Amino acid sequence: MEIIIKQDYEQICEEAIKIIHQAWKKKNNLVLGLPTGKTPLGVYRRLIELNKKEEIDFSQVITFSLDEYLGLEENHPQSFAYYMEKNLFQHININKENIYRLSGNPENIDEHCKAYEEKINSFGGIDLQILGIGRNGHIGFNEPSSSLSSRTRVKTLTLETIEANSRLFQDEKEVPRFCLTLGIGTIMEAKMIVLLALGKNKGEAIFKCVEGPITASVPASILQLHPQAKIIIDQEAASLLSRKDYYQWVYKNKERVDDFIAKKK
Ligand code: PGA
Repeated sequence: MEIIIKQDYEQICEEAIKIIHQAWKKKNNLVLGLPTGKTPLGVYRRLIELNKKEEIDFSQVITFSLDEYLGLEENHPQSFAYYMEKNLFQHININKENIYRLSGNPENIDEHCKAYEEKINSFGGIDLQILGIGRNGHIGFNEPSSSLSSRTRVKTLTLETIEANSRLFQDEKEVPRFCLTLGIGTIMEAKMIVLLALGKNKGEAIFKCVEGPITASVPASILQLHPQAKIIIDQEAASLLSRKDYYQWVYKNKERVDDFIAKKK
């Protein structure tokens, strides 16, 4: 795991953008896994700016949404389909056929989830999966106790997730109780994973994710097993980490290590 501690949200977004941009330069038909939530909004804003400046071209990029509420139609203002359209897709030159989403109202849930996974595999898997983290350590909507090898499926939201997401609904009762989400096993198959978090209220989840034991009680802790996971956080989200100085030291020396390795080759 690479732990990158930044001063503020601006810097978190810049770092994430750098990674996405580099990945796209290497592979223009990049397969991106994208989350919703408050955290990635700044990243999406910057992607739109880069696209407007023609520094990144989305015409060949393929995207897969991470999760969706069950029971909401695509045009419901709180659906993840709507969020992605409003905050990213409608502003960039992405080819609509390259946008893949989990449906909020599939005819057959199991078949829909299976077909979604097959679609991901048909593109050779997700190259870069962006993630947020819940205060309870969830990734996607894989709530605590989710199987660490789970596939895309239905999940029941925890009461704390319902409460956290209720800010976007007029009434907590309107927050759907069920969702579809990429499984943890599915997420782990992405070639690179970038998790973003900021603020004190994510501090405990980040501590458990990075320095705690790997456990289904903290789904994000599975990222410790991923060979290319980057955790990009601000000082507050990093506040409980015991090896914070070491992570910062590693990051500071990163270019020197890269130079050293390059010279050896
Ligand atoms: P947030 O959500 O970005 O709105 O904090 C993250 C999550 O619950 O995964």
